[in-house]
Amino acid sequence: MTTKNGFKVSVIGTGRMGSALATALFKAGFPTTVWNRTSARTEPLGRLGLHVAPSLKAAVDAADVVIFNVSNYATSLELLKDREVASALSGKMLVQLTTGIPQDAREMASWARQNDTSYLDGAIMGYPSGVGTQDYTVLYSGPEALFDRVKPVLLAFGGNAVLVGAEIGHASALDLAALNFMTGAMFGFLQGQVVCEAERLPAGVFAQTVKDLMPVLDGFLQQLFAKLEKKDYVGDEATIEAWSAVPKELLEWSKDKRMDAGIASAHHELFQRAIRAGQGQADFAYLYEVLRQGK
Ligand SMILES: NC(=O)c1ccc[n+]([C@@H]2O[C@H](COP(=O)([O-])OP(=O)(O)OC[C@H]3O[C@@H](n4cnc5c(N)ncnc54)[C@H](OP(=O)(O)O)[C@@H]3O)[C@@H](O)[C@H]2O)c1
Repeated sequence: MTTKNGFKVSVIGTGRMGSALATALFKAGFPTTVWNRTSARTEPLGRLGLHVAPSLKAAVDAADVVIFNVSNYATSLELLKDREVASALSGKMLVQLTTGIPQDAREMASWARQNDTSYLDGAIMGYPSGVGTQDYTVLYSGPEALFDRVKPVLLAFGGNAVLVGAEIGHASALDLAALNFMTGAMFGFLQGQVVCEAERLPAGVFAQTVKDLMPVLDGFLQQLFAKLEKKDYVGDEATIEAWSAVPKELLEWSKDKRMDAGIASAHHELFQRAIRAGQGQADFAYLYEVLRQGK
């Protein structure tokens, strides 16, 4: 069958994200087939005009490019244990968009090598509602030639399809690093909101303060990048001892209010390890060395 965009695509897993990916492919003009363990979840896609495969093997048979988006890599590998599915994938292109860690990507790449399947590992950097928009970022790792070949398909997911590199674990490593950064910021916001609400500040004040502080945070990060690059840990602006007061005070406050102190105690412990190592006068950047060491 000749298709508008040259590829027939199947999406395996039509949960929140998989449904968005399949819809974006269909809207971009690719003949799109879906398969999901729980068939009810494919019904809205079927009504939209996507082809719903009766089995995983049928979905793989229907496509040149097979996109996996199930909960985790262990589930993907479990599904791929089926010999008929594995042999149906032979000679095809497999793009894994399930979230995982670099070891998962390497394990999947090894499966692909053993089963004569071309493999790209991907990491989605956004919510399902953003899929298909111009700025949406998905990171990939794997062979450049394969990325270039399949790029028209990948661009259906969003305008910013980035090949991080050939090392198969790099997309998930960067994803892990970036998501951890965002998780830290979001937890920080929620913790601050708990403090402000308990202390009866008017609603919305903390959110506005956080917005106003974005340029300050940006400045702090710029200094941190520069210091780390030079491994310059001199505390010329503020010391670890000064910073360590933040979690100490939050611990006291949380105890007094009988509220969760998990974030404060984790930060307190990291600062104390630096201080015990004799680095109380060092810059915040020194905490990088603490994080690099095992306990
Ligand atoms: N949602 C997001 O914002 C987002 C963002 C970036 C990346 N991701 C990643 O995308 C992946 C899917 O996330 P999601 O939010 O779409 O989750 P979800 O809505 O919970 O969907 C999970 C999918 O995995 C399938 N699944 C789970 N266990 C299975 C099994 N044993 N056999 C076959 N299929 C199985 C589910 O099938 P059933 O319907 O049969 O349960 C469903 O299709 C995850 O790796 C997630 O980290 C999600």
